[in-house]
Amino acid sequence: MVRSELHGIDPTDTDAIFTILHLQGVINEALCLIPSATTGDSRITRPNGLLINGTFITPFTKVAAPKYVIMRTVKSSFLFPNDFISERWYSRPELILDEHAFRPFDFGTCFCHTGSFT
Ligand code: HEM
Repeated sequence: MVRSELHGIDPTDTDAIFTILHLQGVINEALCLIPSATTGDSRITRPNGLLINGTFITPFTKVAAPKYVIMRTVKSSFLFPNDFISERWYSRPELILDEHAFRPFDFGTCFCHTGSFT
Protein backbone atom coordinates (compact mmCIF):
# COMPACT_ATOMS: atom_id res chain seq x y z
CA MET A 1 0.00 0.00 0.00
CA VAL A 2 2.88 2.37 0.77
CA ARG A 3 4.46 1.53 -2.58
CA SER A 4 1.29 2.27 -4.54
CA GLU A 5 0.86 5.51 -2.60
CA LEU A 6 4.36 6.61 -3.58
CA HIS A 7 3.72 5.88 -7.25
CA GLY A 8 3.53 9.15 -9.15
CA ILE A 9 4.86 11.29 -6.31
CA ASP A 10 7.40 13.91 -7.39
CA PRO A 11 10.43 13.32 -5.09
CA THR A 12 11.56 16.92 -5.57
CA ASP A 13 8.25 18.25 -4.23
CA THR A 14 8.89 18.85 -0.53
CA ASP A 15 5.19 19.42 0.15
CA ALA A 16 4.32 15.98 -1.22
CA ILE A 17 5.11 14.37 2.15
CA PHE A 18 1.90 15.89 3.50
CA THR A 19 -0.17 14.05 0.89
CA ILE A 20 1.30 10.60 1.58
CA LEU A 21 -1.11 9.75 4.34
CA HIS A 22 -0.63 6.00 4.63
CA LEU A 23 3.16 6.28 4.79
CA GLN A 24 2.83 8.94 7.48
CA GLY A 25 0.48 6.60 9.33
CA VAL A 26 2.99 3.74 9.08
CA ILE A 27 5.75 5.97 10.47
CA ASN A 28 3.58 7.28 13.31
CA GLU A 29 2.44 3.79 14.21
CA ALA A 30 6.04 2.54 14.29
CA LEU A 31 7.02 5.48 16.51
CA CYS A 32 4.15 4.56 18.83
CA LEU A 33 4.85 0.85 19.06
CA ILE A 34 8.62 1.10 19.35
CA PRO A 35 9.54 4.68 20.31
CA SER A 36 13.25 5.18 19.68
CA ALA A 37 13.45 7.24 22.85
CA THR A 38 11.36 5.05 25.14
CA THR A 39 11.59 7.40 28.11
CA GLY A 40 13.73 10.51 27.65
CA ASP A 41 12.47 14.04 28.18
CA SER A 42 13.17 14.12 31.90
CA ARG A 43 13.20 17.55 33.50
CA ILE A 44 14.07 18.82 36.99
CA THR A 45 11.55 20.99 38.77
CA ARG A 46 12.54 24.54 39.69
CA PRO A 47 13.15 25.89 43.23
CA ASN A 48 9.42 26.47 43.74
CA GLY A 49 8.44 22.98 42.68
CA LEU A 50 5.68 22.35 40.18
CA LEU A 51 1.94 21.77 40.29
CA ILE A 52 0.84 19.20 37.71
CA ASN A 53 -2.86 18.47 37.48
CA GLY A 54 -3.37 19.11 41.20
CA THR A 55 -0.30 17.18 42.34
CA PHE A 56 2.58 19.17 43.80
CA ILE A 57 6.05 18.01 42.76
CA THR A 58 8.74 19.09 45.22
CA PRO A 59 11.65 21.32 44.10
CA PHE A 60 14.59 19.79 42.25
CA THR A 61 12.76 16.56 41.50
CA LYS A 62 13.41 14.74 38.25
CA VAL A 63 10.17 14.18 36.35
CA ALA A 64 9.79 12.06 33.25
CA ALA A 65 6.96 11.24 30.87
CA PRO A 66 7.84 7.75 29.60
CA LYS A 67 6.68 7.51 26.00
CA TYR A 68 6.46 3.72 25.83
CA VAL A 69 4.19 3.63 28.87
CA ILE A 70 2.05 6.56 27.72
CA MET A 71 1.62 5.32 24.16
CA ARG A 72 1.23 1.58 24.86
CA THR A 73 -0.28 1.11 28.28
CA VAL A 74 -2.19 4.23 29.36
CA LYS A 75 -5.80 3.42 28.52
CA SER A 76 -6.80 7.02 27.79
CA SER A 77 -4.24 7.36 24.95
CA PHE A 78 -5.20 4.99 22.11
CA LEU A 79 -7.63 2.20 21.39
CA PHE A 80 -5.83 -1.05 20.53
CA PRO A 81 -2.40 0.50 21.31
CA ASN A 82 -0.51 -2.73 20.68
CA ASP A 83 -1.94 -3.29 17.21
CA PHE A 84 -0.32 -1.81 14.10
CA ILE A 85 -3.19 0.23 12.62
CA SER A 86 -1.77 2.91 10.32
CA GLU A 87 -5.26 4.06 9.38
CA ARG A 88 -5.81 5.55 12.84
CA TRP A 89 -3.71 8.53 11.69
CA TYR A 90 -5.83 9.48 8.68
CA SER A 91 -9.13 7.63 8.36
CA ARG A 92 -9.84 6.17 11.81
CA PRO A 93 -9.29 9.07 14.23
CA GLU A 94 -11.65 7.46 16.74
CA LEU A 95 -8.75 5.13 17.62
CA ILE A 96 -6.80 8.13 18.96
CA LEU A 97 -8.28 9.01 22.34
CA ASP A 98 -5.73 11.67 23.26
CA GLU A 99 -3.58 13.18 20.50
CA HIS A 100 -1.23 14.63 23.13
CA ALA A 101 -0.15 11.08 23.94
CA PHE A 102 1.78 10.99 20.66
CA ARG A 103 5.04 12.80 21.40
CA PRO A 104 7.88 10.64 19.98
CA PHE A 105 10.00 13.76 19.51
CA ASP A 106 9.04 15.23 22.88
CA PHE A 107 7.90 18.76 23.59
CA GLY A 108 9.09 21.84 25.43
CA THR A 109 12.30 23.76 24.93
CA CYS A 110 14.53 20.73 24.25
CA PHE A 111 12.29 18.76 21.91
CA CYS A 112 13.75 17.11 18.82
CA HIS A 113 13.55 19.70 16.08
CA THR A 114 14.03 16.98 13.48
CA GLY A 115 10.50 15.77 14.19
CA SER A 116 8.92 19.19 14.43
CA PHE A 117 6.91 18.83 11.22
CA THR A 118 4.72 16.13 12.79
C1 HEM B 1 12.90 8.86 14.62
C2 HEM B 1 13.88 9.71 14.80
C3 HEM B 1 14.10 10.54 16.04
C4 HEM B 1 13.42 10.52 17.22
C5 HEM B 1 12.24 9.67 17.66
C6 HEM B 1 14.04 11.53 18.06
C7 HEM B 1 13.64 11.81 19.35
C8 HEM B 1 14.28 12.72 20.17
C9 HEM B 1 13.95 12.94 21.56
C10 HEM B 1 12.87 12.20 22.33
C11 HEM B 1 14.76 13.92 22.02
C12 HEM B 1 14.81 14.46 23.45
C13 HEM B 1 14.08 15.78 23.54
C14 HEM B 1 13.95 16.21 25.00
O1 HEM B 1 14.87 16.03 25.80
O2 HEM B 1 12.87 16.74 25.31
C15 HEM B 1 15.61 14.34 20.91
C16 HEM B 1 16.54 15.35 20.99
C17 HEM B 1 17.33 15.76 19.94
N1 HEM B 1 17.35 15.22 18.68
FE1 HEM B 1 16.19 13.72 18.01
N2 HEM B 1 15.05 12.13 17.37
C18 HEM B 1 15.12 11.55 16.13
C19 HEM B 1 15.99 11.87 15.12
C20 HEM B 1 16.92 12.89 15.17
C21 HEM B 1 17.80 13.26 14.09
C22 HEM B 1 17.86 12.56 12.74
C23 HEM B 1 18.53 14.34 14.52
C24 HEM B 1 19.58 15.14 13.81
C25 HEM B 1 19.76 15.14 12.51
C26 HEM B 1 18.11 14.63 15.86
C27 HEM B 1 18.61 15.65 16.62
C28 HEM B 1 18.28 15.89 17.93
C29 HEM B 1 18.86 16.93 18.76
C30 HEM B 1 19.94 17.94 18.33
C31 HEM B 1 18.27 16.86 20.02
C32 HEM B 1 18.54 17.75 21.24
C33 HEM B 1 17.58 18.93 21.21
C34 HEM B 1 17.86 19.94 22.32
O3 HEM B 1 18.29 19.53 23.41
O4 HEM B 1 17.57 21.12 22.10
N3 HEM B 1 17.12 13.74 16.21
N4 HEM B 1 15.29 13.58 19.81
